[in-house]
Amino acid sequence: MLAISAERLQSRIAALARFGGLPGGGVTRMCWSAPHEEARAWLLAEIKAAGLTPWVDTAGNVFGGLGLTAFDTARPAVLTGSHIDTVPEGGILDGALGVLAGLECLQTIRAAGQTPGKPLGVVAWSDEEGRYGSLFGSRAFCGRLDVAAIPTMAAVDGERLVDAMRRAGFDALRAPEARAPAGAVDAYVELHIEQGARLEEAGVPIGVVDTIVGVRRARVVFHGQADHAGTTPMERRRDAFLAAADYALKARELVVTRGGPRAVTNFGVVHVHPGASNIVPGRAELVHEMRDPDGGVLERLARECAALAEDVARARAIRVEVRPMSATTPAPCASRVQAAIEAACETLGHPRQHLYSAAGHDAQNLAAVCDAGMVFIPSRGGRSHRVDEMSDAAAIERGANVLLHTLLRLAT
Ligand code: GLV
Ligand code: MN
Ligand code: MN
Repeated sequence: MLAISAERLQSRIAALARFGGLPGGGVTRMCWSAPHEEARAWLLAEIKAAGLTPWVDTAGNVFGGLGLTAFDTARPAVLTGSHIDTVPEGGILDGALGVLAGLECLQTIRAAGQTPGKPLGVVAWSDEEGRYGSLFGSRAFCGRLDVAAIPTMAAVDGERLVDAMRRAGFDALRAPEARAPAGAVDAYVELHIEQGARLEEAGVPIGVVDTIVGVRRARVVFHGQADHAGTTPMERRRDAFLAAADYALKARELVVTRGGPRAVTNFGVVHVHPGASNIVPGRAELVHEMRDPDGGVLERLARECAALAEDVARARAIRVEVRPMSATTPAPCASRVQAAIEAACETLGHPRQHLYSAAGHDAQNLAAVCDAGMVFIPSRGGRSHRVDEMSDAAAIERGANVLLHTLLRLAT
């Protein structure tokens, strides 16, 4: 039975981990940064060396084709992939696994002299992690970019997307040209680490994803009054940070009590201005993220949180602005792709479990244009978005072989 080379895959995982690698392990490789662009060049060279056709589109998505040199409605392709950007101080497998396993699968199929009925492609989507806009590359490819917003899209540190992309040799205004012709993709399947502990705790080696959560992010900015932190009596202060803290605690309660059973929320970015110990904070900015597999629930939670922010601000005699930053759509995975993954597991003798994805993935954009699905492997201790994110070598090999046999089915 056809099988991938686990050794070659592991050696590529180790090689990619060196771009943006951190001294204590893990990696910081944000999209369009120097380490990311070096990783892109390395990946293109690997794609070429594997005998595939390499190219990069105007949104910065990297492709490797097997019988595929451009997207064509007349010959719909089967795609696999993930992303090579990471969160700050992230792990070496989030995204990298899906790209490198996809490359390994196509190289294996090519070396075996197999010519599947449909063209095959591996892809590394741009800025999956959302430094400038979540799932940017796959949004562009699937025609879901808010084109008018491109000139003002910016990272939380204020850097504009147009500047970051220009530095990397891209014109952000041309990103929408990356849109694939309708019907040019037949199916998409992505291998990823679970990033949670369900598979490990159940002792099940393979996850078949049935739904992917939606993620909404908003910048919540409280405008209070800067004052001397020693001389201003406590009752006269209009402290923007305390309003933000009050909001964070109440919004958490709101999401937990009024959201669906799987709703979660997070405040991962907090800025206090001017940011000195002897000044009462005049302005406080939060990035408020919430997730739910039900788009309707997310929509309602966002409305209720905006009203809550107003209530908190009013009670403290300060002003608040809620600016939506990004919203991804929850997506069901196609039953045809789930069935192909199941059949691959059956062929290989692996038990599997259906589960939803609590992390966002490019597959949810692809689901809008083709049959899309995902394969998960267990994450050690459920750890992810941290430097010690890892999966066992045997789990990686199993996952890549399930991907291989899923691709062969989908492409036949
Ligand atoms: C992707 O990593 C996410 O934040 O869900
Ligand atoms: Mn991630
Ligand atoms: Mn990822």
